[in-house]
Amino acid sequence: MATKSRVDKILLRCIGCGAVTTVSESGLACVKCDDLLEVIFPQSADAGEKHSDFDAVALKALWRQRRASHLAMDESGVWRFREVLPALGERHGPITLREGNTPLYELSRCARSAGVRQLYAKHLGMNPTGSFKDTGMTVAASFAREDGFRWVACASTGNTSASMAAYAARGGMRSLVLIPDGKISWSKLSQALDYGALTCQVETDFDGCMRLLSEIVSRMPIYLLNSINPFRLEGQKTVAYELLEQFDWRVPDHVIVPGGNLGNSSALGKALVEMKELGFIPKLPKLSVIQAEGANALVRTVRETGGKKLVPVQADTMATAIRIGNPGSWKKAVRVLEATGGTVEQVSEVEIALAKAEIGSDGVGCEPASAVTLAGLKKLLRQRFVDPDETVVLILTGHLLKDPDFTLKFHRGDLFVGTAHEEESEILAPQQRGPMVLEASVDAVLKVLETAEKTS
Ligand code: F0G
Repeated sequence: MATKSRVDKILLRCIGCGAVTTVSESGLACVKCDDLLEVIFPQSADAGEKHSDFDAVALKALWRQRRASHLAMDESGVWRFREVLPALGERHGPITLREGNTPLYELSRCARSAGVRQLYAKHLGMNPTGSFKDTGMTVAASFAREDGFRWVACASTGNTSASMAAYAARGGMRSLVLIPDGKISWSKLSQALDYGALTCQVETDFDGCMRLLSEIVSRMPIYLLNSINPFRLEGQKTVAYELLEQFDWRVPDHVIVPGGNLGNSSALGKALVEMKELGFIPKLPKLSVIQAEGANALVRTVRETGGKKLVPVQADTMATAIRIGNPGSWKKAVRVLEATGGTVEQVSEVEIALAKAEIGSDGVGCEPASAVTLAGLKKLLRQRFVDPDETVVLILTGHLLKDPDFTLKFHRGDLFVGTAHEEESEILAPQQRGPMVLEASVDAVLKVLETAEKTS
């Protein structure tokens, strides 16, 4: 099990009481108050590293240069930025699937329909297992192996489990997955199975899976890989570095992120704040978090308690990736909203479905949870929180093929049949492009083409 290693030199701070600790003292939660920990970066001078060790200009050049290298560490779009990650020991090196290096697309049609001048999508669905989870998993799984663990585990709405199973397999570890029975997409489930995870469909929701797992990891030598693990967030930080690099270090006005367990918004916010502190960027973009109306714990927490006390909810949304009612990283996310001047908003099921089809029309596509970003942007524009002249980046977290059922039902017009949203969903008709069943003749296809030409 856990042996003394370089991991112990990494200092962690409790986000509740501020106590400074190490993994060997505390594990992944504060021993004093049980709140979440975060990696202290940059570490204070007495821990051996000073702010002045960071030459932002030189690092920007070095990171760009590494793009031409074929070393695994450099081909990874996460480890390429290793100077801003906690240092891994030399025993094994990182477990990498060459994650990161994800594209930044301009969304011109979506920009026009939303009414904003410059709209971009940073597509994290283009990671090796199809979601943003890989950028954090490469780091946390590598630390698990470095620390001598044979088993890793997570509770998941699907993407974390797919990612964890892949990295565990690559790193020679076993993995345990707890997923809510029947409430995750089968394509994510199939990934976990193929990568060899011990996969349990549990008769509860994500929050219930999380509760069970916390108890299990306290009894067994199993390393928890949910986003309450601070090393996951360190890896996810590199998304912000890569994004700024793609903008040639010009800071966009606004970054919009989907919110579930709130690890991703916390990680991106931490990265941006550190980047400014270290002199990589002169100012912060606003970072706003969008949730589904049916899974709106952060929205309620901010609106009803000013961000002071979590308001948990019984989560329900077709965007199953963010079907989470008791988000682990809510305090970190509130801090990010405060630091960057961003906001939190919620969107309806129909708004999510519409936005997803619109992103598809730009030839990009994403899974439903990612589409809350565009739906949220439209709302923030209407509220004038976002100005039409701003440069906005949507963080698309998962690949279109992560949830084919949703997409097929949407285009066939079945998605909302028999639900409370049926009437409201009539506005979706112009976006629905269901497949046509035809007889096998040239004429039949030509007739369809002719009609399409007239209506386009
Ligand atoms: N988008 C996708 C595609 C996700 O899979 C998730 C979370 C989120 C957004 C929300 O990110 O939790 O960091 O706020 N998926 C989890 C999972 C929790 O188990 O795969 P978050």
